[in-house]
Amino acid sequence: MALQTKDMKIGILTAGGDCPGINAAIRGVGKTAITEYGMKVIGISSGFRGLIEKEYAVFDESQLSGILTLGGTILGTSRDKPFKNNANAENNSPKIIRNNYKEMGLDALVVIGGNGSMKTALKLYEEGLNVIGLPKTIDNDVWGTDVTFGFDSAVLIATEAIDRLHTTANSHKRTMVIELMGHHAGWISLYSGIAGGGDVILIPEIDYNIDVVTGYLNKRYQNKKPYSIVVVAEGIEKPRGMRAGTYIAQAIQEKTGHETRETILGYIQRGGTPSPMDRILATRFGAHAVELIAEGKFGVMVNLAGDKVTSIPLKDVSNKTKLVPPDHSLIQNARKLGISFGDKRI
Ligand code: F6P
Repeated sequence: MALQTKDMKIGILTAGGDCPGINAAIRGVGKTAITEYGMKVIGISSGFRGLIEKEYAVFDESQLSGILTLGGTILGTSRDKPFKNNANAENNSPKIIRNNYKEMGLDALVVIGGNGSMKTALKLYEEGLNVIGLPKTIDNDVWGTDVTFGFDSAVLIATEAIDRLHTTANSHKRTMVIELMGHHAGWISLYSGIAGGGDVILIPEIDYNIDVVTGYLNKRYQNKKPYSIVVVAEGIEKPRGMRAGTYIAQAIQEKTGHETRETILGYIQRGGTPSPMDRILATRFGAHAVELIAEGKFGVMVNLAGDKVTSIPLKDVSNKTKLVPPDHSLIQNARKLGISFGDKRI
């Protein structure tokens, strides 16, 4: 006989890089499970490590209140990969996880994570666990969903930082370079570069030529532009051991002679309270995960498709990364505004 939802116990874990909105997602899962379905909920600490070390706590409404607007993850996270074989050790983590899942009395496991975590989620599903993936990351590089929560907040933070660079660049008549996160994808730099009025946007998906960049900037200064803003994704081509922002700033200063400074925005993009849109998306994702569990639908990742929150098989997501298509409409729009992507002389 199908398990009554009120007898179900679900576990939640958060793995990989943190981002604004994770706690909103935990709250969405927990409140829907407890309020709507009468399920029991446990929070597993430090990502997959908590599953291996059986570190968890029973959640009730009190743990879930006051966390909607809270950045980070109340569960903590780690980048532990239980299926990554250590060279010199027989890896029995999957067996330990299977046993612990049973000993904790779990009927389902919600994995809140990025690309790597979705890959692990699929493997746990293939080991027989009832797993649902919830895609989160500031990078917005998870395949199969229009957007991940964390991304809107990062764009907001990065755009505000770029807005602030305009005034100091204008005061000193400088070229300001800002390096943004995004791992191998350029989504944050593309969106905040346009929102923040960047003159040059360099992303990993478009090969740039530093001489095209400096030629474009020289032309700006010949046309009496007082300053320039250059937005650089951390994942672009650069000399090993150098930060992208530092490399580009040094190259611009050397090749144009124009005073140039760089800002590496770094972890600021992952901190603090989620934007309203991320709170809404995370809540929708969390609630839908519980609906899938109630329906007995596992081995899937919750996703946004248009304005619908649905789900797709984890096997369709695993081992893929959603990069910026070079012909993306936003890139086409930006080029028409005269923004340079460092690839073509304009
Ligand atoms: O995936 C999110 C992210 O912030 C990337 O943009 C960045 O490259 C990476 O995490 C940094 O990893 P860590 O937090 O392990 O330093």
